[in-house]
Amino acid sequence: MTTRRAFLAAAGVAGAGLALSYSIHRQGKASYAEAVAETWRHSGEPATGRPEPMRDLVRYATLAPSSHNTQCWRFRVAEGGISILPDFGRRCPVVDPDDHHLFVSLGCAAENLIQAAAAAGLDGQAALNSGPEESVGIALTPAKGVRSALFEAIPHRQSTRSEYDGMPLTGDELRLLETAGTGRGVRALLITERQTMETLLELVIQGNTAQMRDPAFVAELKDWIRFSHAQAVRQRDGLASAASGNPSLPPWLGRRLFDLVFTESAENDKYARHLRSSAGVAVFVSEVDDKAHWVEAGRAFQRFALQATVLGIRTAHLNQPAEVPALRAELASTLGLTSGRPDLVIRFGRGPELPRSLRRPVEAVLV
Ligand SMILES: Cc1cc2nc3c(=O)[nH]c(=O)nc-3n(C[C@H](O)[C@H](O)[C@H](O)COP(=O)(O)O)c2cc1C
Repeated sequence: MTTRRAFLAAAGVAGAGLALSYSIHRQGKASYAEAVAETWRHSGEPATGRPEPMRDLVRYATLAPSSHNTQCWRFRVAEGGISILPDFGRRCPVVDPDDHHLFVSLGCAAENLIQAAAAAGLDGQAALNSGPEESVGIALTPAKGVRSALFEAIPHRQSTRSEYDGMPLTGDELRLLETAGTGRGVRALLITERQTMETLLELVIQGNTAQMRDPAFVAELKDWIRFSHAQAVRQRDGLASAASGNPSLPPWLGRRLFDLVFTESAENDKYARHLRSSAGVAVFVSEVDDKAHWVEAGRAFQRFALQATVLGIRTAHLNQPAEVPALRAELASTLGLTSGRPDLVIRFGRGPELPRSLRRPVEAVLV
């Protein structure tokens, strides 16, 4: 009898615990959905009055992609323009020791800002200011307002880490992507031949293997993962588990399971499926390996991603061969490059959307 009562009591406690965690999960999911709706929208949707125009441009800029969703930027609004400053407190020293990705991310934000400025009747010209305080300065001057298709696509773009449908794109679609991905001193090489894609896959696998065998790389990545909806909503940065197609879990459990599930072979198999299901791969190449070109590479990549969004095409990163220094030279020689730096490796194709990432509010990034 005592045993039965104890069992029932224990079952009751376990049931209550499960119900509580389910309810916390549901609440987290609902607040995540609200935060997503608040983030991924054009201004004026829902109509809550016209926000201050410069803040609005900054909000569009923050919808850009950034490495590990670090949002490694700050914005200074001044007379005649907006400066985008690197936030070195958000560097990723292991995966990005030379701050290449950080400056590419600033370029992505600059492109969004310039597209949004054009829609608001302002011409934007970007230049990297070096000196004691580095920044990407965007000079804004009055112009005829143009709501471009790329601008319209800003709240719909996503880095989509799902399997794609394996179908090829048309010649016209590839040409539009190539044009969008070309910038000053930067070009996008589009690879659709299966044989070359397999060679790229070998490099991705070698790069991923090297990174996963580096405990510092894994620790840095883990620090930027937001394991639960609630954690993602609280911090509004980093890699939300859901956005990588993984379940939302309490962080203490997520961190433990990560060590079991995030294995070299599982990740390599996933990358093989991802690449083989893609229509092609775009490699962004800078003519000169310096910060000004990294910013341009970010701008070109962002135009490419927005153009892809306009066409209903998804994009995702497979940057390992560009990140691991020993493989970068091999990547360059696979592509027949004799100079320049391969900046980014991006797969593209059609496929399902995944849950979205979040952003910190404008107030958190204004200086
Ligand atoms: C320079 C740069 C490097 C990136 N590298 C990777 C990468 O190696 N793997 C990956 O899955 N995503 C990568 N991303 C995508 C970011 O993780 C993504 O932009 C961020 O999580 C926000 O999500 P969103 O692009 O869907 O808004 C990179 C993005 C940038 C700008």
